[in-house]
Amino acid sequence: MNNLIFATNNQNKVDEVRAVLGEIFNIITLKEAGIDIDIPEPHDTLEANATEKSKTINSLTGKNCFSEDTGLEVEALNGEPGVQSARYAGESGNFENNMEKLLTNLDPFENKAARFRTVISLILDGKEYFFEGICPGKIISERKGNQGFGYDPVFIPTGSDKTFAEMEMTEKNKFSHRKKAMEKLIHFLNTYYGKDQD
Ligand code: IMP
Repeated sequence: MNNLIFATNNQNKVDEVRAVLGEIFNIITLKEAGIDIDIPEPHDTLEANATEKSKTINSLTGKNCFSEDTGLEVEALNGEPGVQSARYAGESGNFENNMEKLLTNLDPFENKAARFRTVISLILDGKEYFFEGICPGKIISERKGNQGFGYDPVFIPTGSDKTFAEMEMTEKNKFSHRKKAMEKLIHFLNTYYGKDQD
């Protein structure tokens, strides 16, 4: 099986990605690769942050790797928190503070439409490739469920009446932005390695 380093320290993301990609590729976490760094996300686009993470790990290891950056884009808030999703309530903010700030800011608006957007940056044999996944939905004003992470308790994907936090991972993965981006990545990798073996 081919090895691929996943440049993240978020165990929830690793679990979600392994559930999708784990049978085809051996996903190696930063910890397993012996890398103990917190990669900064200083840029103002998801694409630039994803690139920063994959390039950092690629230059440290010289190995094939991918990273992803995700944002929650809320229509009435002009796309906020977006690329600032992890730091919406400040650098020391946590999931709870971030959700609280989101609900307060969105409270005056009727329009609760939102979407998660994931951008994956893959560095494979020295070249970079991008993949995007979008999950449309809406924000609700009361938290529901206790699974998942981040804004999951207040986000209902289109096509469901449950929040992501009320879903098991397999159910979340039927809708998830990260899963959609991963499917594009998998398709690309299968074609890439398929062609190589011809
Ligand atoms: P990151 O910068 O890609 O790690 O993610 C930014 C932030 O978006 C995270 O800290 C979470 O708050 C949020 N986020 C990313 N993916 C998800 C998800 O699948 N569900 C809920 N929140 C998420």
